[in-house]
Amino acid sequence: MSASAEMPYFIRPSVGLKGEEKKAAYEEAMSAIRANLKGETNAVLKMSTINGLLKTHLPYFYWVGFYLVQNGKLSVGPYQGTLGCLHIAFGRGVCGRAAAERTTQIVADVHALEQGAAHIACDPNSASEIVVPVFNRDGHLIGVFDVDSTEPNSFDETDQYYLETIMREQFCASPLTTFSV
Ligand code: SME
Repeated sequence: MSASAEMPYFIRPSVGLKGEEKKAAYEEAMSAIRANLKGETNAVLKMSTINGLLKTHLPYFYWVGFYLVQNGKLSVGPYQGTLGCLHIAFGRGVCGRAAAERTTQIVADVHALEQGAAHIACDPNSASEIVVPVFNRDGHLIGVFDVDSTEPNSFDETDQYYLETIMREQFCASPLTTFSV
């Protein structure tokens, strides 16, 4: 499946939430994340579980996933959604900007940005986006967390508050391990 406007059979267009409804959905998602990841240190398990639970509770999460810092650039990590770009340079696109500036980015209309520079279009169905930097316990940037919606203007300070809190609790507040063979 290439990056066409056609939506795969297993994905539905975003259904936006506003105000208290959005907060209630995040509270439920956050409780589920805390309950399921209690005591867990494996970063891959955490990332996969966070993706699944957020996508279950937030009906406007079209693409949700992590880009990880590897060899001085961002490489795609656990995600749910259509095919994501594999590698993104620091400073390129919304993810690269969040990584370079180490701050959360909210874009109301990704199509208004310069394509290939300020925004990288992996899937033309994405219309708005939030990207949150992810730090470990030592304060090192380990990646960014990226959410796309098929509706413009889906993300606001409520998304920023909850997503930054989830990332801080899960990756900053405890030691992390990964798979080893
Ligand atoms: N839109 C992103 C690229 C990643 S995809 O959305 C999965 C960006 O410009 O950073």
